[in-house]
Amino acid sequence: MVDALDRAAQAGFQSRFHRSATGLWSAPGRVNLIGEHTDYNDGFVLPLAIDRRTVVALSTRTDRVVRVASSFAAETVEVSLDELVPEKLDGWSAYPLGVAWALRQFGADLTAVPGFEVYIDSDVPVGAGLSSSAALESAVAVALNDVWDLSLDRATLARVGQLAENRVVGAPTGIMDQSASLLGQADAAVFLDCRSLAAEVIPLGLNPAGLELLIIDTRVSHSHATGGYAARRKSCEAGARALGVPALRDLSLHDLPRAQAMLDDETFRRVRHIVTENQRVLDTVEALRSSGCTAIGPLLDASHRSMRDDFEISAPELDVAVDTARRAGAIGARMTGGGFGGAAIALTPTELVPAVTAAVMVAFTERGFATPDVFVVHAADGAARDSGARP
Ligand code: GLA
Repeated sequence: MVDALDRAAQAGFQSRFHRSATGLWSAPGRVNLIGEHTDYNDGFVLPLAIDRRTVVALSTRTDRVVRVASSFAAETVEVSLDELVPEKLDGWSAYPLGVAWALRQFGADLTAVPGFEVYIDSDVPVGAGLSSSAALESAVAVALNDVWDLSLDRATLARVGQLAENRVVGAPTGIMDQSASLLGQADAAVFLDCRSLAAEVIPLGLNPAGLELLIIDTRVSHSHATGGYAARRKSCEAGARALGVPALRDLSLHDLPRAQAMLDDETFRRVRHIVTENQRVLDTVEALRSSGCTAIGPLLDASHRSMRDDFEISAPELDVAVDTARRAGAIGARMTGGGFGGAAIALTPTELVPAVTAAVMVAFTERGFATPDVFVVHAADGAARDSGARP
């Protein structure tokens, strides 16, 4: 299906490259319902793809040249397929070019494929914790998978996007965001086992239950390439090593007393977050199956407390967003994504969306925080080809 964003991407392609793109592909951003920092611990996550997308308009060339342009930069970046090495890629174009490089690591023979021109447009907010980067990587991955005739499955394309993020962009992130963007389905969440990569679609039924998923983008921007995210990952790895398990996934709630006895207080709290968060994902899936989405509020609340107090990745703005939304009538709320900024989610009765929004605005103004962006998202389908015949 072609919509206004697709048409904008097609128009952008035309104006930069003076011809029509032969195809349009898109991939959504994501929010994580629950399961934070569990992905790189081989654990469980429950994200959903959202109705904000990145579109790529793309045509192959007859030579080895790659030209990348987008609505968010005036420049057009040009490289040869023969020069695609992580060290040479930087800036925004490292995402699409990094995907092309990463495809080679998953078996694509880049000596046998044509160059291409691509124009990128998006309505996924950048820096809000809604995975604008995974949306971009996934859109480029499905497009190149098609035009280069690679026949890679979606789980592999998720790993391609993750590799681009890890090696080319330099952020030591897990597999969750790309998986959500590639595997999501309308009105459902993706229950992913990040060890086996087994994925199951779990219906959410939010609207029939009279609920909306409200995003509160704090406008505190975050970066996973530096600082806290990598430090948390290191603590988790150190905890697993000290406890003699391959990954924190291999611990259960029963192991926590032993962990507490063996670890320093900070590492123990990092471990406790992961162990309890994995259990909360399983409990949320079970609650969705047996009682429906109105039953998951307390699990979202507990997840936020664990991130605030044990994993220490929240921020004052996120805590205020969560507390205010709950007091104004949301049935559960938590920060979502990597933390240190970005967005919170609040599961909110439809009729209370205006009241919760207003309360959050007032609370932020009173504290002198930047004005947040508060909006509703819906669970949407994952990456797709929007138009154009197969080459
Ligand atoms: C970021 C990373 C994900 C995941 C989350 C935290 O979004 O990209 O891989 O680790 O943080 O759950």
